[in-house]
Amino acid sequence: MEHQTQTIAPLFQVENVSIAYKTKRGPLQAVKGASFSIGDQEAVALIGESGCGKTTLATSIVRALPNAASVTEGKMLFRQADGTCCNILDLSQKELRKILWEQISMVFQASQSSFNPVKRIKTQFIDTVKAHKPGKSREEIMERARELLRIVMLDPDKVLESYPHEISGGMKQRTLIALSLLLEPRLIILDEPTTALDLLTQEKILKLLNELKKQFGFSLLFITHDLGIVSELADSVVTMYAGRVVERAPVAEFFNHPRHPYSKGLINAIPRLTMDSSELYSIPGSPPDMIDAAPGCPFAPRCGHCVQKCREEMPPLECVGEDGHVCACWNPMMGGTEHE
Ligand SMILES: Nc1ncnc2c1ncn2[C@@H]1O[C@H](COP(=O)(O)OP(=O)(O)O)[C@@H](O)[C@H]1O
Ligand code: SF4
Ligand SMILES: [Mg+2]
Repeated sequence: MEHQTQTIAPLFQVENVSIAYKTKRGPLQAVKGASFSIGDQEAVALIGESGCGKTTLATSIVRALPNAASVTEGKMLFRQADGTCCNILDLSQKELRKILWEQISMVFQASQSSFNPVKRIKTQFIDTVKAHKPGKSREEIMERARELLRIVMLDPDKVLESYPHEISGGMKQRTLIALSLLLEPRLIILDEPTTALDLLTQEKILKLLNELKKQFGFSLLFITHDLGIVSELADSVVTMYAGRVVERAPVAEFFNHPRHPYSKGLINAIPRLTMDSSELYSIPGSPPDMIDAAPGCPFAPRCGHCVQKCREEMPPLECVGEDGHVCACWNPMMGGTEHE
């Protein structure tokens, strides 16, 4: 038999995606030409300060953007279970409904509002499955729901009989994680998955997600500004700044050799056990205006590495290392992560 070499497309690929919001002051460019990919069983962390476009980009994957937002360019290519690739942005509502929950699911940042307030939680589990697999019996669904709720350390009987307002924010978030796993999707998106959880629960949920990822073999895109979580859960890190992807690197490479000065600033801002609070570092300045952007690199006003060219020309995303390490910077960092 003739030997064929085939390149398999990544599970998910964001290609040059831009997203704008209509505002009274004019279009706000929340995402600008973002590109990155997610491989099979890979956990990708999307990081960056508040307002840099993480939620907008993630929400566009499940086509749940608010009406004021529109994707102005780009593609989102998803390799379906049958091996064919589709551009999520081109799917009809009917095609999209088939993919959501069953192949891609998302736990939103404002998870409180993801439940229907007038339905018991068990009804929401049943409705989600029935919409995709009408043949499944209520008993089968409830059994699986109980199993998943136990996995996320909740009392299934109590949660399933409750209305959303009867359980705490942290419990709702864990219930949504269980719900997102219900149809065993191949890509799960979690937006700030641990914000409503106390530290101990955060730690447990992270361990659990790691185990579940191994057990079910799904890929993860998770958004966080907690780099501790990134180091525990991510295989790769994507740094966003002012709507742009400015660096993408395998996790060890990201922490040991960050090349973008902004990534390095985020790493230096991690509180260390050996520091007292007066030594805490934070990146000086604040992100730029996303409506009226200045030319050149958006990080220039805050960057200690800035050279003349930075203020004039936008740096393209270029290869800076192995395993897909890319960085958009005219004067990338060379050294390690020691404090300067
Ligand atoms: N509904 C909206 N209307 C107008 N601007 C918005 C809306 N939602 C978000 N934005 C703006 O888009 C930018 C990116 O926001 P967001 O995606 O929420 O960032 P992040 O998740 O990184 O904090 C911010 O400047 C924010 O103010
Ligand atoms: S391009 Fe210039 S200003 Fe922008 S991050 Fe790199 S060195 Fe700093
Ligand atoms: Mg957000």
